[in-house]
Amino acid sequence: MKNRRDFIKNSLLLAGALSIGEHAYPTPPMPHADLDDDEYWKMIRAQFPLNRNKTFLNNGTMGPSPYPVLNEVYQDMLHVESNGRYGGNEEDAIKALARLTGTKDSEITLTRNVTEGINISCWGLPLKAGDEVIMSTHEHVGNAAPWLNRAKLHGIIVKAIPLGKTAQETLDIIKKAITKSTKVIALPHIPCTIGQILPIKEICSLAREKGIFSFVDGAHPLGMIKLDIKEIGCDLYAGCCHKWLLGPKGTGFLFVSENFRNTLQAYYGGGGFDSGWDMLSQPPTLKGYVDNGHRYYYGTQNASLFLGITKAVEFHEQIGVDKIEKRVKALAAYLQENLIKLSPNIDMLTPTEAISRGAQIGFKIKDKEMTELQKLCNEKQITTRYVAENNINCLRISTHIYNNHKEIDSFLEITDKFLRA
Ligand SMILES: Cc1ncc(COP(=O)(O)O)c(C=O)c1O
Repeated sequence: MKNRRDFIKNSLLLAGALSIGEHAYPTPPMPHADLDDDEYWKMIRAQFPLNRNKTFLNNGTMGPSPYPVLNEVYQDMLHVESNGRYGGNEEDAIKALARLTGTKDSEITLTRNVTEGINISCWGLPLKAGDEVIMSTHEHVGNAAPWLNRAKLHGIIVKAIPLGKTAQETLDIIKKAITKSTKVIALPHIPCTIGQILPIKEICSLAREKGIFSFVDGAHPLGMIKLDIKEIGCDLYAGCCHKWLLGPKGTGFLFVSENFRNTLQAYYGGGGFDSGWDMLSQPPTLKGYVDNGHRYYYGTQNASLFLGITKAVEFHEQIGVDKIEKRVKALAAYLQENLIKLSPNIDMLTPTEAISRGAQIGFKIKDKEMTELQKLCNEKQITTRYVAENNINCLRISTHIYNNHKEIDSFLEITDKFLRA
C-alpha cells in the first residue's frame, strides 16, 4: 500500500465485500525483537499508514495510529452498524489503561480528550474565591482555559510560575510560590511548549506535605515514557490516548485516586454515573454515585474507539514500553545534540539534562523568525509545531517510533541552510 489515499480506497472497496471478522487491510507482521535496531524500527514504521512522502515530527499534537488500531476500530464500527449493537469494549479499555498507568481499574474515567479530564478536575474541586492555583507560563490552552474560567466565574486565583532549566530549579520555584492560600498545584507533567519532563513525583509529594491538591496535565507522557501514576502520587491525572499512545482520535482518560473520589464532586450526571435514581419517589431522588471512575462520565459512547484504546495499549506492550521510551528519547537527544552543534545562534529551550529530556525539543534561532523555518519545512513535507503559546515563539520537534535518524538529518539540513541564509 503506497499511501493513505490507497488505504482509504481499498478499505472502501473491501467494505462492500467484507463480512465481519475479515480485515479491512492486512496488518503487516510485527517485527521480531531480535532484529538489529535499524531493521526493527523500519518494520515498525511499516505498521503505519502515515504517508511515506511525509516526515511527521509533530506527534505532540496528534499521534498517527498504526494499522492494528485502525483495523480494530473499523471492524468494530462495521459490527456495530451491521448488528445494531449498543455499547461494549469499555471494561477492556479501562483495564488496559489501568495496566499501563499503574492504577486500579476503578480509578480510571474514560474521556474524549485531555481537556475534558481537566475540566472534570477543575470544576469538581472544592475551591472558593481567593484560593490559589499554581500553574506555569508554559500551559496549553486546554489546561489554562478551565482554571482561568473558574477564576473568572468563582474568583479563584491563578498564579503562573516560570519553569526552571533543571528539575531542581523548577522545584525551587514552586516551593517559593506556595502560600497559605495555595489549594492546588495544576502543572503539566510534560509541557506542550518545550517538552521538558517536570519532576512531577517530587512536586506531588510537596503538595501532599502541604495539604495541597495535586492535578497533573498528562497530555504527553502516556506512550512516550513509562508512566506509573500511583508512584507519582497525585490526586488527579488527565491524559489522552490520541497523542503518544497512537490511539483513536477523541479518546482520553482521567485518573481519580480512589481516596479522592469523595472530594472530587461530579457535576455532570447521566446514565452510568449514579447508584440509583427515582422519579416516582416524593420528591424524586438521586441516591448517590457509583464508586468508580464512571462517576464522571455518562451516556452513549463510541464503543469502537474503546476497542481502539485497548489495541493501542497492546501495540505498545508488544513493542515494550521501555524500548519505546529508549528509542524516542534517543532520537530527541540526537536532534538536540546536533542542533546545538549547528550554531551558537541556536537558543536551545529544552533542558539538556537527561532526567528532564523527553521526546520533544523546542528551540529558537537568534534574530530569525521561526515561522519562516516552519514554512521551509512544510515545503519539504516536514511537519513541525510552531509554539506561539505565551510568546515562546519556538519550533517544537517531536520524535516517535515511526521516525528515524534520516528524517532528523533532513530537518537538520534545512535548519542549517536557514541559519546560513
Ligand atoms: C500539555 C497539553 N495539555 C492539554 C492539551 C489538550 O489536549 P486535548 O486536545 O486532548 O484536549 C494538549 C494538546 O496538545 C497539551 O499539549
